[in-house]
Amino acid sequence: MLTFGRGWYQLILLVLSLIDALSPDSAASILASVILDGPLRGDELSIPAATTPISCHSHNDYWRIRPLHTALEIGCASVEADVWLGENDSLLVGHVRSSLTQNRNLQAIYLQPILEILQQHNQDHQPDTLRGIFDSVPNRSLVLLIDFKDSSDIIWPVLNVHLQPLRDLGYLTHFNGMEVIERPVTIIGSGAVSFRDVISNSTYRDIFMDAPLQIMGNDLPGLLFDTKGSDMPLDVLVDDALPLRQPVNPAVYNPTNSYYASASFFKTIGYPFGSRLSSAQMKLLRAQIRGAHEQGLKVRYWDVPTWPIGVRNYLWRVLVREGVDYLSVDDIRAAVRGDWGPRKGGWNKKWWD
Ligand SMILES: *[C@@H]1O[C@H](CO)[C@@H](O)[C@H](O)[C@H]1NC(C)=O
Ligand SMILES: *[C@@H]1O[C@H](CO)[C@@H](O)[C@H](O)[C@H]1NC(C)=O
Ligand SMILES: *[C@@H]1O[C@H](CO)[C@@H](O)[C@H](O)[C@H]1NC(C)=O
Repeated sequence: MLTFGRGWYQLILLVLSLIDALSPDSAASILASVILDGPLRGDELSIPAATTPISCHSHNDYWRIRPLHTALEIGCASVEADVWLGENDSLLVGHVRSSLTQNRNLQAIYLQPILEILQQHNQDHQPDTLRGIFDSVPNRSLVLLIDFKDSSDIIWPVLNVHLQPLRDLGYLTHFNGMEVIERPVTIIGSGAVSFRDVISNSTYRDIFMDAPLQIMGNDLPGLLFDTKGSDMPLDVLVDDALPLRQPVNPAVYNPTNSYYASASFFKTIGYPFGSRLSSAQMKLLRAQIRGAHEQGLKVRYWDVPTWPIGVRNYLWRVLVREGVDYLSVDDIRAAVRGDWGPRKGGWNKKWWD
């Protein structure tokens, strides 16, 4: 499947991750975009029929030669793309601006392949029983998380246009003013996305919010919008700082406007020193999970420490046991193997009993 051997691929990934660890916003991303650019084109997406979707969220996709393909072939039911505005209203995919190229865009890498596979699966196109990406569980919706790297004012209207073909064919999960209708693809905005844009239409929505998990379970005052609003520089709005255009009152987030509640594990819960989470960390973790579930949202932590492997596996076990809905992982192959549970029961088993 890959155009060059897996050994080389692994080696390149290793070198890139090392550079990334030292200096995330520089050479590595540029190198990655150059190396990864070629093999993408003309590579058809095919998901083995037996692939079982699992609640893994695949991020750092820009490291992979075929970002969407790899995640879906393995069964990851949630994928992430970082998008920037490009020329002629294209949406370019990449971690940092310096790594962008015109042919690595949202249409080519994500939206078009998804549309093609849905059309293959729905040749009779029955609007009420549309089949999703995964043959084995056709009612499972694929989550596409779109991380806004430019401001919502810029990305929102353009993204809306790009989604029109999927929308016209009824493939997008949407809120119709009364209830949420689940469809084969669920679009979520994160990063600089503005809550105001998400809720701007009260009768139709198909871009949902990645709500801030770190505020869930808190009793914060009902502050709705930061008064600084659009004057905030972009670097404050993106990445892991709580974007100031998001309400900090947990009560405003619910399934009519949001899907995930997510946060950086490292920043909000911290590192498990002594290889175990402290009781204060467990208390915080449980409060956030309970708070998000009370709002009807799916819990996802990213930035879960990955080293050493034993600690990572311990954290994955704790997260699943405590009711986290999606595991956000870099090493999707390791996550899927399911051999990180104490009884090696695999992903969907209650191996902690
Ligand atoms: C943008 O559109 C203009 C006019 O159609 C075209 O000349 C130009 O090549 C386009 N740029 C890119 C990067 O596609
Ligand atoms: C999907 O289908 C399965 C099997 O028919 C069913 O058990 C499950 O509840 C369905 N899930 C959703 C989200 O509709
Ligand atoms: C909300 O979206 C629907 C469907 O796209 C559209 O017909 C309607 O005009 C929108 N309403 C507002 C206030 O934008």
